Amino acid sequence: MSELMDREARRLERKEHERKTLEALGRPEYFEMLEFVKKQLHEESTESAGNGKIDISYSRYDHTKRVLAWVLRLYEGSKHKEEIRFDELVIATIFHDVGRAVVLGTNIPHAQAGVPITKKYLEERGYAPEKVAYVCDLVARHSDKYRMREEGLDLGLLMLMEADLMDDMGALGIVMDCMITESRNPNARFEDCLDHMTGYTLRQQEEENPMVTPEAIAFWDEKTRLSRQFVDALRRDVML
Ligand SMILES: [Fe+2]
Ligand SMILES: [Fe+2]
Repeated sequence: MSELMDREARRLERKEHERKTLEALGRPEYFEMLEFVKKQLHEESTESAGNGKIDISYSRYDHTKRVLAWVLRLYEGSKHKEEIRFDELVIATIFHDVGRAVVLGTNIPHAQAGVPITKKYLEERGYAPEKVAYVCDLVARHSDKYRMREEGLDLGLLMLMEADLMDDMGALGIVMDCMITESRNPNARFEDCLDHMTGYTLRQQEEENPMVTPEAIAFWDEKTRLSRQFVDALRRDVML
């Protein structure tokens, strides 16, 4: 019973933290937008993102909130805030994967599919056409990660791309490696988790740092160090 109460207390604490973070942004509309996106994505909370997530319960809505948290961290640390349209960036982040709600079983890229949903939502609420166009542009282009190093790339778009890549890596990636390992083999041993971490999260972390802004590069490096340290420590723990 007390374990249940503890868990519930931790859940409420997380919710409260989330509410305060959003409230601090000073725009109640963001709550509404998140609720809308949550509703849209509800049907496919366990769909595959094409990298093994099909095996575990993976909420796209939770991913959206985590990407938003990364956007806020990157923005906070940025020395180029004046170049970033903050409100538009937050809105685009909230809507960036909403298209996943409608592409299951089709060949339509989810970034493109998200555009009409975002556009309709914003237009119905009276947002200025230019603002709607910019937000939709960020949503439409957020998957084009190969553009991240392009000269003159919009800084808001770059930050959304960096935040999107940052999620599922580091500590979260390692936990996900364990979840995937266990879901594929209920008899999996610690060594199997270690194998998955080494071949997936650690390998991705130790490939070339894909980030561009100094803030994102630093966060990525921190995740890489943590992943390396964790894998090395686990290897020592499971070896004779
Ligand atoms: Fe996406
Ligand atoms: Fe995403």
